[in-house]
Amino acid sequence: MSKKFDYGIRRLADCQNIEDFRELARRKLPFPVYHYIDGAADDEVTKDRNTVAFDDVDLVPNVLAGAEKVDASVTVMGRKTTLPLMLSPTALQRLFHWQGERAVAAVAEKFGLWFGISSLASVSIEEIGARFKGPKMLQYYYHKDKGLNAALLEKARAANFDAVTLTVDTIVSGNRERCKRTGFTTPPRFTPASALSYAIKPRWALDYIFREKFELPNVASPEDLANNVSLSVQDYFNTRLDPSMGWKDAEQLRNDWGGTFCLKGIMSVEDARRAADMGCDAIMVSNHGGRQLDGSRSPFDQLDAIVQAVGGRCEVILDGGVRRGTHVLKALATGATAVSGGRLYLYALAAAGEAGVDRAITLLEEEIIRAMKLMGVTRIDQLTPDKIVRR
Ligand code: FNR
Ligand code: LAC
Repeated sequence: MSKKFDYGIRRLADCQNIEDFRELARRKLPFPVYHYIDGAADDEVTKDRNTVAFDDVDLVPNVLAGAEKVDASVTVMGRKTTLPLMLSPTALQRLFHWQGERAVAAVAEKFGLWFGISSLASVSIEEIGARFKGPKMLQYYYHKDKGLNAALLEKARAANFDAVTLTVDTIVSGNRERCKRTGFTTPPRFTPASALSYAIKPRWALDYIFREKFELPNVASPEDLANNVSLSVQDYFNTRLDPSMGWKDAEQLRNDWGGTFCLKGIMSVEDARRAADMGCDAIMVSNHGGRQLDGSRSPFDQLDAIVQAVGGRCEVILDGGVRRGTHVLKALATGATAVSGGRLYLYALAAAGEAGVDRAITLLEEEIIRAMKLMGVTRIDQLTPDKIVRR
């Protein structure tokens, strides 16, 4: 992760890793948008730890193992995917690049990966269902408005979504100080103070003004649209989501859906056990990319204990901090079914739309395959706990 030189990253072809995309995104985006993606809660200790945690575990390769052909496929929630990598649900993607979720869906389909669509997606559930043939989950925010909750579920059903994933770590918004400083809202509210930051990125501004109007089609009420309501994510969480959500509600939702069900944002061993008892098909061990509870342990540090506790009763997906193929291998060797990430494709989306996401996933695929060969494994199930040592 550490960046020792300024490599002068200006173009897509300059990007050799996820950190390079981050730099290119920083150059391309108005700063309120960049800080929304890159930022996290409070001092961002957890966000940083999510990635650094991987450095505390070392890979131990076997050699002379013959690794000509490598198969990195896994089965996650009943769907086979070519890589043990999932694209986590993230909000507002058309604000990062005009191609938004359509670009991410296209790349997920090309590579055969799970694509998570946020409740706060900027493309409709119906359209994603019609256009994207790959495995897709609807990330579900549990709203106070029960009519909206029911409508989300019905849309996911009608659009043949493969899974519903309830996010459980947003009972209140995390304290995103970068967003407070920049005044970031959706849709962006252009104040005298913020207008300049948008104006100095004319490419982004022209796309925003002249392309399809920015909306959150799955959750915006007719009143929101009519009154052109701009909310910060913080206000959205704190006024629209139901802070009384509990295990009974999660169970009810799983029953109402009746299909493959996942909880996203599980961190404790106790909750992981409870999720397995409840019959969840999968859990995403996640702290929301450090955007909620700063000071929370990292998903990777907590993974082993959770894998042991659920004992195969539900799939365990590690979400957060993944920036390298070797991070993926370390999580799988610890016992994760797959890994998932947001910023690993979001920086690339912001930097160069579909071509950017394609290059980011291509680089990660190459990193995973190369690291498997160097480890002397040809299949994911050979990544066993004896292949890693904690320092
Ligand atoms: C997110 N994340 C998120 N999670 C969720 O359940 N619903 C959402 O709408 C969003 N939106 C969102 C926007 C942005 C800009 C980011 C960076 C993240 C969290 C996301 O699904 C995932 O948990 C984190 O991104 C994982 O951390 P990494 O991979 O970004 O380090
Ligand atoms: C976020 C949301 C929307 O983390 O989940 O910004």
